[in-house]
Amino acid sequence: MDEIVVGIDVGTTKVCTLVGRVESEKTARIIGVGIEPSEGIRKGVIVDLAAATQAITHSVERAEQTSGLEITSALVSLAGAHVSSVNSRGAVAIPGGVIDGSDVMRALDQARAVAIPHDREIIHVIQRGFTVDGQEGIRQPIGMHGYRLEVEAHIITAAAATADNLRQCVSAAGVEIQNFVLNPLASAEVVLTEQERQMGVAVCDIGGGTTDLAIYVDGNVWHTMVLAVGGNHITQDIAHGLRLPVTQAEEVKKQQGHAVRAEIGAEEYFSIRPFGEDYPVRINRQDLAHIIEERTAEMFSLIMQEIKRSGYDGLLPAGMVLTGGTSALPGIKRVANEVLGMPVRTAQPENLVGLVDRLNSPAYATSVGLLQWALTMQEHDLSSGRARKVRRAKGEKNMNLDGIKDWIKRLLP
Ligand SMILES: Nc1ncnc2c1ncn2[C@@H]1O[C@H](COP(=O)(O)OP(=O)(O)OP(=O)(O)O)[C@@H](O)[C@H]1O
Ligand SMILES: [Mg+2]
Repeated sequence: MDEIVVGIDVGTTKVCTLVGRVESEKTARIIGVGIEPSEGIRKGVIVDLAAATQAITHSVERAEQTSGLEITSALVSLAGAHVSSVNSRGAVAIPGGVIDGSDVMRALDQARAVAIPHDREIIHVIQRGFTVDGQEGIRQPIGMHGYRLEVEAHIITAAAATADNLRQCVSAAGVEIQNFVLNPLASAEVVLTEQERQMGVAVCDIGGGTTDLAIYVDGNVWHTMVLAVGGNHITQDIAHGLRLPVTQAEEVKKQQGHAVRAEIGAEEYFSIRPFGEDYPVRINRQDLAHIIEERTAEMFSLIMQEIKRSGYDGLLPAGMVLTGGTSALPGIKRVANEVLGMPVRTAQPENLVGLVDRLNSPAYATSVGLLQWALTMQEHDLSSGRARKVRRAKGEKNMNLDGIKDWIKRLLP
């Protein structure tokens, strides 16, 4: 029996639907790809239901054509400034004196019982660590002896109405949402190494309209956040600064852009012909780099502020891993390194199998990450681990990944 996983990354600039055939616990062969320009989505949030529905529908249809399968349900990426997160603790007594999976679940249920306003929806409940009888720093409590289990959980919530709008668009495209996955968590699945997660690392996916950040410490998610800035802001600045239409500013950014002015020669010029003009305009590349550098540096100082605000005051020894379309900007690594004062590397999906021509680019980290998420069923994310079904295509039996037995098995070493 073939097992199929499907992810839909609803980004600000593109919608990307991927269909994967599970080949092993860690790999899915990509058999369907549908990449379409986004419409009706701004800063990761739907602002025009009809336009967004159409873009999502086109993307899904294209992935159906390439895979030859009908897509009925999928994991869907979620971002936007409406996403927020809180840390919470849950504590339970262990009647039998030995901790089992249901105790962990009860503790997590306690943790998620924090007062969440009715206009917000819980997207993820992620375990950050356990305490057994006052002993902190327990990673895996199942099987341990103890009388009191505490869990520290990271709870990610979204504005319920905004999530409902996305649900409506995806459902109008004929697809049921199995689970939302927060953008940076999906991206982290493909760009972070286990060693980096253990050491302490931040993943930063800079797309068109959002910058998605997740911090990992001791192998677990420590903090997540979504900032409403991205590559589109750089484009806007270029459009204003050089008085160009936005579409041309975007071209200029991709063809000539550089984030470090000092790396561009003073005599480097390029010509463009703005729409509606009969004459070409000569532009100094240093001027362009100056505009980009200012905005990029500002973005990273905002990111640094957020990292400090997350309450994590230790070092991130593995630094930051940059991904997302904007990470393809030449020089961005240097700016990030200078502003953040930590090691920075850029990353994109690697070692893909199947229809991968366009996917080996940082812009597809979230898209590929959704498939990876479906595969690995992150053991620390019990909210989706319990409910997630990763079966997509009609006419094929559901893969039975939900149910307590399965996730307990995953929790056991
Ligand atoms: N070579 C490049 N240089 C600079 N910017 C680039 C380059 N290639 C792509 N970009 C920028 O990347 C952005 C798109 O990235 P991506 O596809 O990751 O965004 P998205 O997922 O659609 O949006 P979001 O995640 O913010 O909702 C655009 O702003 C685009 O201009
Ligand atoms: Mg994105």
